[in-house]
Amino acid sequence: MPRLSQWLIRVAFIYLLLGFTFGALLLTHKGIPLHPALWGWLPAHIEFLLMGWIVQLTMGVAFWILPRYWKHPRRPNEIYAQIAFILLNLGIWLVVAGTTFRAGSQVLLAGRIVEAGAIVFFALHNWERIVSREGM
Ligand code: HEM
Repeated sequence: MPRLSQWLIRVAFIYLLLGFTFGALLLTHKGIPLHPALWGWLPAHIEFLLMGWIVQLTMGVAFWILPRYWKHPRRPNEIYAQIAFILLNLGIWLVVAGTTFRAGSQVLLAGRIVEAGAIVFFALHNWERIVSREGM
């Protein structure tokens, strides 16, 4: 498994742990009130599990397993996938800052734009790798 996939998948597991922890706290809070500020963590729960876990795990496995173009000695434009990894995680924390930490709608919007940038860079990296067994 390539180094970048190891990073993506390990970081995804950290988000899974964080997301489930906040989910469990929120669920408990519904029955036994724990702290009034806890509902503010719902957007972080959603962000960590959808983007941090599901999207990031998918990216990690895709980077590893999609066909490697034999015209290239390595995976083509690997730097694009590395940029995607950085942008995705930056975007997640901007979204959490804009929602849970109340940094404002501009920060939230910036986070969503950065996340969209991550998807664009990841797609650019993988585009050449979406080929049949015959390389077509
Ligand atoms: C991959 C797993 C998960 C994903 C993608 C996920 C996603 C979400 C989303 C999108 C919402 C908002 C729903 C809405 O507003 O209608 C939500 C709410 C919630 N989630 Fe999760 N969740 C996951 C796992 C969990 C787990 C494991 C727990 C508990 C241990 C949990 C506890 C909660 C609670 C308590 C709420 C608030 C429900 C309410 O509004 O009353 N979630 N989750």
